[in-house]
Amino acid sequence: MSKGSEPRKADFVVVANRLPVDLERMEDGTQRWKHSPGGLVTALEPFLRARQGAWVGWPGVADVEVNPFADGDMWLHPVRLSSSEFQEYYEGFSNATLWPLYHDVVVPPVFDRSWWNSYQRVNQRFAEAAAEVSAEGATVWIQDYQLQLVPAMLRELRPDLRIGFFLHIPFPPVELFMQLPWRTEIVRGLLGADLVGFHRPGGAQNFMWLARRLAGFEPSRAQVGVRSRPGVVQVGDRVVRVGAFPISIDSGELDQLARTREVQQRAKAIRSELGNPRRIMLGVDRLDYTKGIDVRLNAMYELLSEGHATVEDVAMIQVATPSRERVEHYKQMREDIERKVGSINGEFGRVGHPAVHYLHTSVDRKDLIAFYCAADVMIVTPVRDGMNLVCKEYVASRGDLGGSLVLSEFAGAAAELTSALLVNPHDLDGVKDSMLAALNIDQAEGRRRMRALRRQVLTHDVDRWARSFLEALGASPTE
Ligand code: ADP
Ligand code: G6P
Repeated sequence: MSKGSEPRKADFVVVANRLPVDLERMEDGTQRWKHSPGGLVTALEPFLRARQGAWVGWPGVADVEVNPFADGDMWLHPVRLSSSEFQEYYEGFSNATLWPLYHDVVVPPVFDRSWWNSYQRVNQRFAEAAAEVSAEGATVWIQDYQLQLVPAMLRELRPDLRIGFFLHIPFPPVELFMQLPWRTEIVRGLLGADLVGFHRPGGAQNFMWLARRLAGFEPSRAQVGVRSRPGVVQVGDRVVRVGAFPISIDSGELDQLARTREVQQRAKAIRSELGNPRRIMLGVDRLDYTKGIDVRLNAMYELLSEGHATVEDVAMIQVATPSRERVEHYKQMREDIERKVGSINGEFGRVGHPAVHYLHTSVDRKDLIAFYCAADVMIVTPVRDGMNLVCKEYVASRGDLGGSLVLSEFAGAAAELTSALLVNPHDLDGVKDSMLAALNIDQAEGRRRMRALRRQVLTHDVDRWARSFLEALGASPTE
């Protein structure tokens, strides 16, 4: 990363709550940059690097002022958050109001007026930062639920820009969205964009219904397609398009990395460190209550207690990245998960063979791929997830056609990965049966499923996602 260069104006600008790198303060007072967590950064970073654009975002630590800087060919433009904004805008309105509201009210959302005020103020700051770095007529692509007011705010400041917005999490059913006291403001904020994108056509349809109901604008009536036939909302003399663009990963890169000797050897080492069990089962998630980590632990508990699995035969690994650690429901769920892991291990573990290997950490990319390559069964059981990239990463890593994927019907990815073993995460017996089926799958059947999954994931990568969005926005990436 080079610092101190002159800030430059960009023709292509991504605006997201987080920069792709987080500033980390070490105990000795020094600082370093590390990769930011989550699917948004995983998806967008490779795309933006190739495009030499600018990225406007928060550097991950409150109360620090960081000057714009270049990271390779990407220009990073930090936005400052104070510690009270961190609490009210980020932990509060974004992650204790919108996150649960948009994820089926899995936990009750909190509606707090001071959080809303902070959300408006911070969105205005992001809009101003985006206005500052954008060249005349630039394309600005705003990301996710933390910044839903930015499209309209930015249009007010810079009507010359072409503005896209993409929501990385599910857009809720209208009955749930209607609970939000500031529902009209959010809908009007999003309608400031030229194109509003969701993962699934259902989200686009819900949004258009709300545009009429709450803002009084007439939407088109035809069904929205996937990457095609976007809906249209006429907003005064502007046309706002509303479409479905399922996000993906850099599948080709993962496929290549997974084939390297280094990764294959690490995968072998993982298996041997576990004592060469017959089967390895893996979960990889941000430690979030939407991910259904408890679901798979409960299923594992029953498989062990009913004698369908033993700890010598099956090793379960759960890698959980720390996330939003001061938000109440996250604290609570971490305690619950760790208590559950402790009690399963206490009851079934043997010396050298815990039932569940639990790692509360983020792992480096090659290690992560090695885990995918080592795992015979990948368990992805969110109770609601906009897309879920972990399951796509697993599939991309399995060029050997080995491994089985157990996937929740409530992840956006389930609509594409239909050859996975699909489960309802609320149905414990169903999850257990599918885990057992995956553990004992016939090799030919497993390979047939994996081949079909790979066909989907390798042909629908993140580049295709970004291109389809930008083409619909009228800003082809090749321009
Ligand atoms: P979300 O965006 O809600 O976190 P996704 O499944 O869409 O969920 O994306 C998660 C991203 O974070 C993936 O790219 C995944 O590889 C990465 N990730 C999740 N857990 C870990 C971990 N423990 N260590 C490293 N990367 C992780
Ligand atoms: C999900 C959200 C992203 C968010 C990421 C990590 O992927 O869609 O917007 O950045 O989780 O969460 P965090 O709160 O740590 O940024």
